[in-house]
Amino acid sequence: MMKGVILAGGTGSRLGKLTSVLNKHLVAVGNMPMIEYPLATLKKMGIKEIIIVSGAEHVGTVLQYLTKEHPDIDFTYKVQKEAGGIAQALSLVEDACRGSKIAVILGDNLYEEEFSRAAMQFDNSNSGTMLFLKEVPDVQRFGCAEVQGNKIVSIVEKPKEPKSNLAVTGLYFYDSSVFDKIRKLKPSARGEYEITDVNNMYVADGRATFNVLKGFWSDMGTYESRKRSEDFILSKGTEFFML
Ligand code: DAU
Repeated sequence: MMKGVILAGGTGSRLGKLTSVLNKHLVAVGNMPMIEYPLATLKKMGIKEIIIVSGAEHVGTVLQYLTKEHPDIDFTYKVQKEAGGIAQALSLVEDACRGSKIAVILGDNLYEEEFSRAAMQFDNSNSGTMLFLKEVPDVQRFGCAEVQGNKIVSIVEKPKEPKSNLAVTGLYFYDSSVFDKIRKLKPSARGEYEITDVNNMYVADGRATFNVLKGFWSDMGTYESRKRSEDFILSKGTEFFML
């Protein structure tokens, strides 16, 4: 069984005063804190061991909340001292995950679909990574994948002139070579260690596989996307995400 990782660091600056003192992932979406939704996605895969990465000022409250509400899960945590990017946050879990494959999810991503079959398939395969793509109208906001047949050709982070409308969503399955790849990274133009650069290393090795999502997917990190997600959650019924 893969271990799970929820990345819940970063600044949350796109939610303005909502995140002045509160961690972005504890902001309400529907009748639960944001982090419940990515957690539900991992729990539906059958994952029982989850590592949370968050900033020093928030990791305490995030962990306090999660251990109270989800006593069935074995939580560990790592502190990300500064928001150095998604790949930098992921580098912190190397010791906690040694030797095992991992399912990494961004703490602000909402999925309708469940991934237990995909997780089992990946766990029993030689793939280096499995990525989950979604056709979106605003791909410039995301990592954008160019695809030919069943192969990813390349991924561009927040492209000005996108080559497709396929966003790379924030759920990533990785083998244990991910940490060696992160060590080879250099910071991007925006000064972050980018998960897109990691994914492109797997593409270059020919070890990246992907699925295209049919169900609803959104981030929840802006007022607009948080509202859109909330509307979806309420239309679906919140019980769907309560695990
Ligand atoms: O939502 C999917 C998108 O997420 C992908 O399509 C992009 O390729 C990927 O780079 C990312 O884009 P964003 O720029 O929207 O990511 P953001 O900075 O909003 O961070 C998303 C989550 O990642 C955040 O809720 C917590 C975690 N994070 C982020 C950073 C920068 C960390 O844990 N630490 C960090 O330093």
